[in-house]
Amino acid sequence: MPAYHFPKGFLWGTATASHQVEGNNTNNNWHRWEQEGHTLHKAGLAADWWGGRWREDMDRAAETHQNTHRFSIEWSRIQPTPDRWDEDALDRYRVMARGMTERGLMPMVTLHHFTDPLWLYEKCGWDDVSVVGLFEKYVRKVVEALREYVTYWITINEPNIYALSGYVAGDFPTCAGGDRGLNVAMRVMANMLRGHAAAYKAIHEIQPEARVGYALHYRPMVAARPWFPLDAIMRNIQYNGINMAFPSAISTGVMKSPVGNVSIPEAKGLQDYLGLNYYSVDTVKFDLSNAKELFGKRYYPENSDFSTTKFIANIPEGLFDSIKWINKTYPGTPILITENGVEDDQDAMRPRYLAQHLHQVWRAVNFNWPVKGYYHWSLVDNFEWERGWSQRFGLWGLDIDTQARTRRKSVDLYSDICEENGISDEMVKKYCPEVYEKIFHP
Ligand code: FCB
Repeated sequence: MPAYHFPKGFLWGTATASHQVEGNNTNNNWHRWEQEGHTLHKAGLAADWWGGRWREDMDRAAETHQNTHRFSIEWSRIQPTPDRWDEDALDRYRVMARGMTERGLMPMVTLHHFTDPLWLYEKCGWDDVSVVGLFEKYVRKVVEALREYVTYWITINEPNIYALSGYVAGDFPTCAGGDRGLNVAMRVMANMLRGHAAAYKAIHEIQPEARVGYALHYRPMVAARPWFPLDAIMRNIQYNGINMAFPSAISTGVMKSPVGNVSIPEAKGLQDYLGLNYYSVDTVKFDLSNAKELFGKRYYPENSDFSTTKFIANIPEGLFDSIKWINKTYPGTPILITENGVEDDQDAMRPRYLAQHLHQVWRAVNFNWPVKGYYHWSLVDNFEWERGWSQRFGLWGLDIDTQARTRRKSVDLYSDICEENGISDEMVKKYCPEVYEKIFHP
């Protein structure tokens, strides 16, 4: 029976983030943003993890043969005001991490996933360098509390998306009354790099065996018309602007930025692995009307295999290319796919998206590139930021009125994959026969 197998000990899991699943997170900048009407819906009770439903969801993860889970800690719960630590909240996270361990799920913890405590937001958040010391204190507190159960840490999730979606696109909150613009976004990113460096050192000081990295949202890009120099130039500007700030600083100690490079020597070399969040590939063309984004327009070609809301085009080869790029940039550095998934309430595309992307991961592994695990986004439908509940990324569906979960057929596919530690031709024939030829006779 033909099958693509993964190395022994490969990590199979799903990823979530505090504000997207916990519910009743009312003390952070996103709650404020939602109340001000900037989002399609409100997070509300979300998947009610704070109310305890993480337990049933972790049962689901474990019963379907996953062996790890990535979740995030909500800073505003741990430090509700600058002068107060909430030990009960810390304890709840400790119980969660232990609960995962007891179920055979290795917990991986993200320390910052898009949300900031309101008090930090009021004092200009990541746009003020004072955040670096504050973040380090919070990180120390969390690591001391959870080190018994956790060794894999993600300091910051997608700093590029945080900074650009807030300070340039205006879809995410910025700090209170803060300026916007590319200059500010890059200043924010520089502070995030300083925060990452401080957190990296603090974590290793407390827990020498820790593995510390960050999660990079990486977008491969192609020029719309490769023969047209302006498209090629725009492609490079967008590619570097969106992808390269963190990677360049980790490589060289200098943050590459379209508005002027910034020296951050303390960040050089500070990653034990790289977390890759991969969703799709952008096509880029020159667009005179888009000054805000430096005259480049990013889009998907019309004939793409689109997700329900056209948020994602299914381009699995892009995942292979992303891994290839990481391996070339940081030879030997372990790679974890910390997010990959698609919004699909009908579960029509997800099975093939999953199988095709994992086939590409297998190709990379087969070159002996050090990919150690895969976290699908996400376990259960959750609150998708400015897009609210309009996008359903869960393996399980969620009815937000009743909190009922529905098992999509992708659950069974992913469960089979995790159990088998590989993808067999039977699975593909059963769950997504439409891509059988692509996967087994490429
Ligand atoms: C990523 C975010 C994650 C989720 C997915 C769909 O950019 O890190 O929280 O929203 O996109």
